[in-house]
Amino acid sequence: MVGQRFISLLEHHPWFEARWLAASDRSAGKKYSEACNWRLRAPMPAAARDLMVQECKPGKAPQLIFSSLDSRVAGEAEKTFAKAGHVVVSNSSNHRMDPDVPLLIPEVNPDHLALVGEQRKQRGWKGMIVTNPNCTTVGLVMSLAPLERAFGLEKVLVTSMQAISGAGYPGVPTLDIMGNVIPFISGEEEKVEREAHKLLGTLAEGRVTQGNFVVSAHCNRVFVEDGHTEAVSVSLRSNADLEDLIEAWRKFRARPQELRLPSAPKHPILVREERDRPQVKFDVESEGGMAAVVGRVRRCPVLQFKYITLSHNTVRGAAGAALLNAELMKSEGYLD
Ligand SMILES: NC(=O)c1ccc[n+]([C@@H]2O[C@H](COP(=O)([O-])OP(=O)(O)OC[C@H]3O[C@@H](n4cnc5c(N)ncnc54)[C@H](OP(=O)(O)O)[C@@H]3O)[C@@H](O)[C@H]2O)c1
Repeated sequence: MVGQRFISLLEHHPWFEARWLAASDRSAGKKYSEACNWRLRAPMPAAARDLMVQECKPGKAPQLIFSSLDSRVAGEAEKTFAKAGHVVVSNSSNHRMDPDVPLLIPEVNPDHLALVGEQRKQRGWKGMIVTNPNCTTVGLVMSLAPLERAFGLEKVLVTSMQAISGAGYPGVPTLDIMGNVIPFISGEEEKVEREAHKLLGTLAEGRVTQGNFVVSAHCNRVFVEDGHTEAVSVSLRSNADLEDLIEAWRKFRARPQELRLPSAPKHPILVREERDRPQVKFDVESEGGMAAVVGRVRRCPVLQFKYITLSHNTVRGAAGAALLNAELMKSEGYLD
């Protein structure tokens, strides 16, 4: 699912081009058009059709590798590529919490990229691994970052309604998900809680100090194709009104917008004012699927405020996130 998004997003990319592909033994030795069960609405890009899928080993691979490998194999494979000198920009969860691996959202913590220096020193690699967060964490943390900066975060409670494409291909069996809500996604709640602390933490002296707030996540799978919706409640450390939160989101701009990176959304956070938005059906493609769409902002009688955030799980939560990471790295001289 994520690999196809990469192929699609790279089709007209001004800086990067898909030249080399690798997958499992099931696919190696076949043309991409034969190996891949293309599931996106836009047709498979012509340039990708005839690319031969290779074994997942360094050697003839280019400098920059986007990894969306199954997490059962990503851990070792990504280390092998980095050791061989490749820059691995990964979606997989395996290395996200390694203390010397940057876990990045370019709008939130671009400075954490500097952890790569520590990584190379510790591991003696010429290459590197840089990661993006889990698809549920990204929409949550993009919406939290402006609140953390303006008012300080104290408590966060999030309940997700996650799309089926988040489970990879072929995903969740129809008989399990149709007409149903599944209140369990293995490891997901732990990932959201851990990753939020690292992303909103502070980098000093080669390590990230975790963000100073508590977060509790409930993760659910729902019968939606693409787009994770999250119901969020927060307590803040300083006084704010509803209008202050909306203003903080509306004026939020960061490094990717300053640098005008090709995949950067103009508005990283889009605030919808209609009483029944955001909705997956209308809002998931906002800003090319790269924005966090926030709405239904109101007072919460348990914590202080509550709202909904929506983001595209295979674009902003995966392939688009990795592309934006690589664009930031190129702009900051990490690919020279
Ligand atoms: N889907 C999302 O929304 C999302 C969001 C964020 C992060 N992620 C993460 O991104 C990764 C990919 O997710 P996905 O949804 O794209 O999964 P997927 O559709 O199941 O794709 C997994 C890919 O891994 C390859 N693979 C499996 N075993 C391999 C092996 N032994 N050697 C080399 N390649 C192997 C598969 O190759 P074949 O094609 O040959 O089978 C396939 O291309 C996962 O780690 C996932 O946790 C996914």
